Amino acid sequence: MLKRTHTCGDLGAEHAGQTVILNGWVDTRRDHGGLVFIDLRDRYGLTQVVFDPDSGQALMDAAHDLRSEYVIGVKGTVARRYHGKENPKLKTGAIEVQATELEVFTRTETPPFEITGGSEPNEELRLSHRYLDLRRPEMQRILLLRHQMLQVMRRTMSDQNFVEIETPILGRSTPEGARDFLVPSRVHAGHFYALPQSPQLYKQILMVAGYDRYFQIARCFRDEDLRANRQPEFTQLDVEMSFVEFEDVIGTMEHVVAALAKELTGETLTLPLPRIEYHDAMERYGVDRPDYRFGMELKDLGDLAGRTEFKVFSQALEAGGRVRGLCAPGGGEKYTRKDLDALTESIKPLGAKGLVWIKVEAETFTGPTAKFFPPDVQAAMRERFDAKTGDLILIVADTQSVTSQALSTLRIRLGAELKLYDPKTFHYSWIVKFPLFGWDAEENRFVAEHHPFTMPLPADLHLLDTEPGKVRAQAYDLVVNGEECGGGTIRCHDPIIQSKIFALLGLSTEEANEKFGFLLNALKFGAPPHGGIALGVDRMVMLYAGLSNIRDCIAFPKTAKGTDLMTGAPGTVDPRQLRELHVKLAE
Ligand code: AMO
Ligand code: AMP
Repeated sequence: MLKRTHTCGDLGAEHAGQTVILNGWVDTRRDHGGLVFIDLRDRYGLTQVVFDPDSGQALMDAAHDLRSEYVIGVKGTVARRYHGKENPKLKTGAIEVQATELEVFTRTETPPFEITGGSEPNEELRLSHRYLDLRRPEMQRILLLRHQMLQVMRRTMSDQNFVEIETPILGRSTPEGARDFLVPSRVHAGHFYALPQSPQLYKQILMVAGYDRYFQIARCFRDEDLRANRQPEFTQLDVEMSFVEFEDVIGTMEHVVAALAKELTGETLTLPLPRIEYHDAMERYGVDRPDYRFGMELKDLGDLAGRTEFKVFSQALEAGGRVRGLCAPGGGEKYTRKDLDALTESIKPLGAKGLVWIKVEAETFTGPTAKFFPPDVQAAMRERFDAKTGDLILIVADTQSVTSQALSTLRIRLGAELKLYDPKTFHYSWIVKFPLFGWDAEENRFVAEHHPFTMPLPADLHLLDTEPGKVRAQAYDLVVNGEECGGGTIRCHDPIIQSKIFALLGLSTEEANEKFGFLLNALKFGAPPHGGIALGVDRMVMLYAGLSNIRDCIAFPKTAKGTDLMTGAPGTVDPRQLRELHVKLAE
């Protein structure tokens, strides 16, 4: 076998005159004035190889037979390219290898898409032929970035004295609130393991066990509806610490984030990162994960709405709702009537009944509802939004939640369309002081916003008995460019507070014991004050690699329907296997 002495990204002018062997895939073949040129590719780069008739007919015949994606070994002499033939875009562009020997390791069928040079193949082809897709330089760039990210995470955690401990994949149901993937037990008929939604319970138990600083690059499984930023199995940098308050957890993770920023983007972050209270984020941006790369904050217009003659506004206010809006710089000039109708339609699925749009002109407002805004209200609105001629004001009147969702969605869309920020920049922040509970209107009860082991803010403890909906949690999310990249909490190590929380969540002691009894038992045997966090590795790869689709960050991802197009998983199984597992399929 012609075994490589160098990779296809190694050789430069300094190697001129050396005999070398390269291995790789034929990227392209060009026949040119009696010579055959091939670009040979591996994950390190491309090197040009030349076959010259002077080296014999047999070698030339073999070279003529080469096709894209053949896997070969080639021996030859490194030569500087002729003056003017260098390719500065290529690492190896100063040289070529003049072939003296060729070994074809394997031939290939015609691939369904071009590995380099062609346009991006459609996703179905890419996923069903993932081995070819992953051979594309763009995918190799992403997986190498992912590798680098994992190394930085491991190193910064280990350097901060954290211990990497693996927790089981076959376990019991965990409390993250999504649906579980279940694995039937063969030995215990009718019993099931659950794949972990996160290592949450184990990592808290490790704190009781005295491993005061734990981390793991953990695979998590959640059977939920998939979106562009969600996969049924994904990876977390999972962390738990003892004898800490929430600033300690955040502070520790900031070192990881700073190291990631430094190594992956070259940026030196200023620590501490900004901390923004949940309530403030919701009020100014309408979401708990604002994109802080641009302004265009939401403003409350409740006081002015009453001075307009617009019924929609007064009705919303009377119903206990809100009138809120935003002002898009230059939007009045950019958006046509048709665009504005499309914007209106786009927020209807979020519950909005309509959208007031106003073009800010030099003298007055224009738009179908402008007549409802008397001059003094127009002046007050200009001031509130700091509106300039050519801007666009958008207003939604509805419940708190609908105005938040509609306007935050519009804000993200307009921010991108009006190019209000540089997509290559990063903005990091912590959202803190989340509510402890959310209200599930369908089930008419409180649900844990994060999970049921979260500690309330000490200042709000007294509200547990009186106004539980107002209790804030010691919970924090890491938000980067409008994506939730991580989240965690300080845990409840006090059994009295914990049982109050279970009661508020409508969990009886029996139910709590049935679900998490092993954790509750462990907490009785010397639980230190503790807390932790998990960062979403896939989402961070997405951000740093500049991608909009989480599937591109994962070597072998699932489609939006949860299937693996390459292996065909999930597949059917042999009836015998089912019998062994005591499983009967419903008709
Ligand atoms: P949480 O559920 O917030 O917290 O998850 C932490 C981070 O994991 C990422 N993430 C996902 N990424 C891809 N696909 C998914 N389906 C998915 N779900 C979550 C997000 C999220 O911020 N045990 C707690 C952490 C703790 O309290 O310590 C937990 O899992 O980036
Ligand atoms: P209508 O009176 O329903 O024809 O609506 C007049 C204008 O007000 C239209 O441009 C609607 O899009 C807008 N609109 C209706 N309901 C709302 C609402 N709840 N919030 C904001 N704008 C609305």
